[in-house]
Amino acid sequence: MVFILQHDILIVGGGLAGMRAALEASKYADTAIVSKTHPLRCHSVAAEGGIAAALGNTVQDSWEDHMYDTVKGSDFLADQDAVEILVKEAPAAIYEFEHWGVLFSRLDDGRLAQRFFGGYAKPRVCFASDKTGHAMVHELYAQIMKRMTKVYEEWYVLDLIIEDNMCKGIVAWDIPNGKLEVIRAKAVLLATGAYGRVYNTTSNDYASTGDGLALALHYGLPLEDMEFVQFHPTGLYSLGLLVTEAVRGEGGYLINGKGERFMKKYAPEKMELAPRDITSRAIETEIKQGRGINEQPYVYLDLRHLGEAKIMEKLPFVREMCRKQMGIDVVKQPIPVRPTVHYSMGGVATTNEGEVITSELKPFSGLYAAGECACVSVHGANRLGANSLLECVVFGKRAGAAMGNYAKATSFAEIKGDWFPKAEECMRALFSGNGKEKMITVRTEMQNAMTEHCGIFREEKSLKTGITKIKKLQQRYTNIILEDTSRTFNTHLVEVLELGSMLTYAEAILVSALNRKESRGAHARTDYLKRDDKNWLKHTLVYKKNNELAIGYRPVVITRIKPEERKY
Ligand code: FUM
Repeated sequence: MVFILQHDILIVGGGLAGMRAALEASKYADTAIVSKTHPLRCHSVAAEGGIAAALGNTVQDSWEDHMYDTVKGSDFLADQDAVEILVKEAPAAIYEFEHWGVLFSRLDDGRLAQRFFGGYAKPRVCFASDKTGHAMVHELYAQIMKRMTKVYEEWYVLDLIIEDNMCKGIVAWDIPNGKLEVIRAKAVLLATGAYGRVYNTTSNDYASTGDGLALALHYGLPLEDMEFVQFHPTGLYSLGLLVTEAVRGEGGYLINGKGERFMKKYAPEKMELAPRDITSRAIETEIKQGRGINEQPYVYLDLRHLGEAKIMEKLPFVREMCRKQMGIDVVKQPIPVRPTVHYSMGGVATTNEGEVITSELKPFSGLYAAGECACVSVHGANRLGANSLLECVVFGKRAGAAMGNYAKATSFAEIKGDWFPKAEECMRALFSGNGKEKMITVRTEMQNAMTEHCGIFREEKSLKTGITKIKKLQQRYTNIILEDTSRTFNTHLVEVLELGSMLTYAEAILVSALNRKESRGAHARTDYLKRDDKNWLKHTLVYKKNNELAIGYRPVVITRIKPEERKY
């Protein structure tokens, strides 16, 4: 086996979780990041509203209260040992970023300001106006640069090198140079982020194609809780771009076509600050029952009553985006919104140290995952806003430390197989193939099928139709044509590869949704309307066995909070 590149630790993904893991791992061992986009273009920069921690800067707060809200928000499916880690480590994680230079918004006395978000009983969300992710990513990247951590920018990971039941490195495509590369490593972390692009309307960026999920699935490793797809209630209609929950946190109203604040019917106490699953269902119900604005498929998000000064201080990006994208001035006009695919509660199943686990619930040597592509699980069936940036930095750091310790205790394993020639042959076949199917056609059909059959509301017949459609598209993908055969910076090639990944795990989302015969959190079955703790208080695992998807389960860890009826 010939290879030139070698690092103790490889981080696949240059977003917040990946960079936080890399920073930590680099304290222990030689670490490099391999990222499909430049890290400053990662999707974490799009996180607007904030990061949660019980700092208690405006009212008394505690990690126990943060934990309760998170577990209740998860519809009691989150693993409580993991949630306890998340909320206890939250304040230190935020101060760390603050000390690195993140300009969090402040109270008059200089302490960090905190605002409400859906599902929280207290104002708990720290923020940098409405550009929080952007601020955090830039300071973290500065730390990465300071440590001179190697970043392979714009490399697409094609394969994991898995031999002898362990991960020994990766095979990647260097996009700018159009070259194949093999990198040997002692430990590899998947931090490939979101998969929103598998749907036709999403707040996620163009590169959010969840590639790491397909890599894990390919090697028979389980994805956990894939049925729980989060729809953010306020996607800018009809583009799906994120209009931050901070708008409602700062006092914005949701209004239907009759001019009513309809959330009073669905969450009388919390109103617009109900969790996302409940608010998204409420908006869709209003639209379905003909109470959209002018009977169209959207409602209004109204923040005019907040006044220009507050909008410019707390929500300047929302104003800028609405102006640029829609020609709307939010100071004078309400915003048309509809739920948009935003986040995956599910992902590659891991331990609390980020170790990827097998379907027998055992850690898999040398492979780790963190951030949105992982399921640890701190969000269960529904994530509360602002807990995602938090998860990235808390569990990214933990995974980095765990990998560091692992790398220090192990030596490089010999790579036995012909990984480079095999990959070369695959790429040659793709470049010289004479397939008939166009990427854009297959991708659009996949996105439409997922949107139609696995949306906010699901039921058996439609899910089965969705599975049939995706299986047919998988077949058609084997006949895909590469329409641009240039070597250097071939972004069409990347899109073709991404489509292959998406088709792989799209089926896993549908199969998991079909399997769970209850309604919980973001998984709303119209044929099984109730939550069913007796039969379904468990995590779904979906994995490949004999080339078919198989289902397994993992128990929910309950330590402090008993499941109860969820009311807001
Ligand atoms: O609405 C938002 O600003 C999104 C935040 C999040 O998903 O955590």
